[in-house]
Amino acid sequence: MKAWAFLITAGFLVVVSDGLVCWTCENARSKQECKRQGRWVTCRDNEGACQNEVRRDSAGLRVTKRCKQAQACENNFLQNTRPAWSPTQCNPKEMNSVCRCCCNFNRCNNKNGLSCRGRKKKKLHPRKHSPRRRPKRCHKLPHLRFGTKICSKVPEGKIGSVCKFSCLAGYELIGHSVSKCVYNAKTHTAYFVNEPPRCRKVFEVNTECPDQGSIQYGNISCTAGNTKLSTCSFHCVEEGYELFPPGLNHNVCYDDLTWSTPVPCCIRQCPARAVMNMVIMMDSSSSIGEKNWNIMKDFVYDLINDFTFGRDAVLGSIFRFNSEVDTTSQIFITSPEDKINLRGSFDKIPYNGRGTMTAQALQHAKKQIDKLEEMHDESVNVSNVLLVITDGKSQDDVKAITKQLHSQGVASFAVAIKAPHGAPLNETQLLEITRNPQHLLHLNDGFDGLDEEFSLALREAICAEKCTTIFRENI
Ligand SMILES: *[C@@H]1O[C@H](CO)[C@@H](O)[C@H](O)[C@H]1NC(C)=O
Ligand SMILES: *[C@@H]1O[C@H](CO)[C@@H](O)[C@H](O)[C@H]1NC(C)=O
Ligand SMILES: *[C@@H]1O[C@H](CO)[C@@H](O)[C@H](O)[C@H]1NC(C)=O
Repeated sequence: MKAWAFLITAGFLVVVSDGLVCWTCENARSKQECKRQGRWVTCRDNEGACQNEVRRDSAGLRVTKRCKQAQACENNFLQNTRPAWSPTQCNPKEMNSVCRCCCNFNRCNNKNGLSCRGRKKKKLHPRKHSPRRRPKRCHKLPHLRFGTKICSKVPEGKIGSVCKFSCLAGYELIGHSVSKCVYNAKTHTAYFVNEPPRCRKVFEVNTECPDQGSIQYGNISCTAGNTKLSTCSFHCVEEGYELFPPGLNHNVCYDDLTWSTPVPCCIRQCPARAVMNMVIMMDSSSSIGEKNWNIMKDFVYDLINDFTFGRDAVLGSIFRFNSEVDTTSQIFITSPEDKINLRGSFDKIPYNGRGTMTAQALQHAKKQIDKLEEMHDESVNVSNVLLVITDGKSQDDVKAITKQLHSQGVASFAVAIKAPHGAPLNETQLLEITRNPQHLLHLNDGFDGLDEEFSLALREAICAEKCTTIFRENI
């Protein structure tokens, strides 16, 4: 029975409808999409108009075509020229534009385009059987996001009603702060004279330096937070750690809202209490000569003598190479006691042979690093440092092995010594070994450059590596 009753009702609707047919699509992103997704729809009997609506907002274009009650469509159409912020409501090229058109014969709202067809698109006359009535009120204005709306009369859409808008703290009002509901006798419409405004977040102007975060193993305390002229002091709180770079113990937030220096880091006191595996490769090819070989040995001896050795400090392996690695004279430093005999061990490293098979020696270095890593206390974070001292280019290809070392997190340093009549160096190759250009130190005046001052610079670079490691961990 129910189904039967429904059919009768539906049939009745078809009979009384004058069958206005409008193209219908909703929120299409373009006229093409509207054409694709839409269809012709026969309007209900109280819908005497076809309406096209084209909105443009931050998300882009939105096209809606549909049947519409004739008066409602006309009211909408009249809103096109109402003053709004851009400066009228309908401004197809502007953001927040809403344009509507109406028409009232079959298929007049144009399946292909956005405009409405026919002479009657501007002035739509209500159909005979829907007598024009004076509207009693305006459409209610929407709620104001991030603001408030207060209207003078209740209910708010009554003709003469005045609504005032204001925004919450931190938001500014865009548009008119007041709107009034008026009646237009000519068009028999009631509407609010101004589109409702919106509230936009006020862009905060920076008044502070960027936050400096925290220091691992240390703390930061500032006189006035991150504000201008605030001075921050840095301390290392963990036993055995010190600031790096040394002496950088405070900074200041400048007028231009930048910090005077970057934040330092806390590293194990270095060299004194550094924790690392250190492998040093000394090139003993024939181009070096006996005299320079001894200079190189003394230099390496002095360099490592300042470090503390042991399973909770530095473990080291030092060897020479030319066309082969000399494993017989290789020095292993695994305990504080090994330091006692260090001078003698260095003296015993001979000088002979020829060739520079650096890649082969790097393979050996990797094995030493793996061995030392196993010997270290597990409770401490160990950095792996490799130092290559050479005066010539490698005869074998270092690419593959250096890649392995870097992916293992080994920080590789190279000292490239260019003697006045020495063998040529290969910068590309040296950079393959160090990867970081700051880890490649050049000595262009030969072996005499391996002096105290250079030793300090190299030690500082090796110690700084611990700092960059910590920085990298923080990123
Ligand atoms: C930072 O560390 C230092 C040294 O240990 C200490 O004197 C200071 O009170 C600490 N400051 C803060 C804010 O924790
Ligand atoms: C070792 O490094 C890891 C990763 O950076 C860190 O979480 C851990 O606290 C460190 N351990 C010590 C003893 O410093
Ligand atoms: C320098 O080293 C690069 C990379 O290992 C290599 O491709 C190039 O042939 C070398 N140049 C010379 C002159 O040996």
